[in-house]
Amino acid sequence: MQYQHKTTQFLPSRRRLLLGSAFVTLAAAAGHRSHAAQADQPLRQLIAGPGTTQLVPKPYPQTAIWGYNGSVPGPELRLRQGECLRVAVENRLDEETTVHWHGIRLPNAMDGVPHLTQKPIAANGGKFLYEFDVPDAGTYWYHPHQRSLEQVGRGLYGALIVEEREPPVVDRDITWVLDDWRLDRDASIRGGFGNYMDLSHAGRIGNTVTVNGRIAENFTVRAGERIRLRLINAANARIFGLEFGGHQPRIIALDGQPVAPHEPEDGRLVLGPAMRADLILDMTGQPGQRYPITDTFYRQLNYRLLDLDYAAEPLRAKPPETEVRLPANAIPEPDIAAAERHEVLFSGGMMGNMRGMSRGMAWAINGVSQSEHVHDPLLRLRRGSSHVLKLVNDTAWHHPIHLHGHSFRVLTRNGKPTRHREWLDTVLVAPRETTEIAFVADNPGDWMFHCHILEHQAAGMMSSIRVA
Ligand code: C2O
Ligand code: CU
Repeated sequence: MQYQHKTTQFLPSRRRLLLGSAFVTLAAAAGHRSHAAQADQPLRQLIAGPGTTQLVPKPYPQTAIWGYNGSVPGPELRLRQGECLRVAVENRLDEETTVHWHGIRLPNAMDGVPHLTQKPIAANGGKFLYEFDVPDAGTYWYHPHQRSLEQVGRGLYGALIVEEREPPVVDRDITWVLDDWRLDRDASIRGGFGNYMDLSHAGRIGNTVTVNGRIAENFTVRAGERIRLRLINAANARIFGLEFGGHQPRIIALDGQPVAPHEPEDGRLVLGPAMRADLILDMTGQPGQRYPITDTFYRQLNYRLLDLDYAAEPLRAKPPETEVRLPANAIPEPDIAAAERHEVLFSGGMMGNMRGMSRGMAWAINGVSQSEHVHDPLLRLRRGSSHVLKLVNDTAWHHPIHLHGHSFRVLTRNGKPTRHREWLDTVLVAPRETTEIAFVADNPGDWMFHCHILEHQAAGMMSSIRVA
């Protein structure tokens, strides 16, 4: 099958550089807790720094990137639910950085927000030790929270997978980290991060989509196989709308949190920046055949992400029929009847009301444009209390709105109850849409609350919520 407007301009390749194995001396041990169970947890190491990788296949040259341990994505960090993640981070960039553990309900001091929860990790050799327990199983990711639009945009991100205590039985557990790059013809990353055009419109949409840091052409599968596919959208701004070439994926988790298994609405899985989905993808196609996975989110820009390429030999006659259901994580249930209600208005952008916008600011939350991490919180919530936030998108653009340190239930969309009352940490709010979310403010600290289109975040669509 041919698609006219291929966003992906280049062909497949492979990558992955040797990791520097320098031993890191730990400078800061903020939030250190010692209990016996940690004794056998390995200390992992992430080095943020420049590198090169064959993002685009030869004959294109390698691409200079910023990555963790020299690769894009950085290493997949995997551990079991309830275990303690210990990561020594070293910063070999020319600028300050931090690491944020997106979606994890962790202590505030480990959240990786510069100036707010920690001092930034100094350029050219600064170090920081992150150490925290992971309460929830699921698919998460990590990325800097300092000048994210360029640091994430140049390749600093990786998957963080927390396995269930008893993982469901599948043939393969696969992670696809999706990214979108704006490359020049020589495969180098185009500059101009944070230009006002990107800031005030849809963000930095690129021209090249990668899966796990390379342009993917095929993904080899076998008929009858059952795959757990973990999708992570690490793009600055691109929203994906994936169709699976006649396959019927079942969504079993969103943003790490289990959900009643269901098929994507209208056969298309929509994933805004920072969002994740766990799918059960059963290989119901024919041996020897190819089935394209396509991205149809932007009407003029449909393209083929890759082909599911069936090997000649089936694995079994047909995939298992049992439904995979994940056990719920122990997130406190908001008391909707007793909840305090708050309205949060998102405004600005081109084709919207931009009065009063200046200094490169294009967006606002409740009328305030914020681009510094330390500021007056939008809301001050009493620890342990339940809250319903009515998010009103008064703009002509999509916004994936992310709250740190908590997961929230999505109650309604445009006044209609959601089918699954899903738990999310990042909710995609469509133009002019209103959605209600609910959560228990149980995690003390100052938590960022912002749009995850990184250009929108940088241009004012950022705020924070204080829980005390
Ligand atoms: Cu994934 Cu505040 O970020
Ligand atoms: Cu936005």
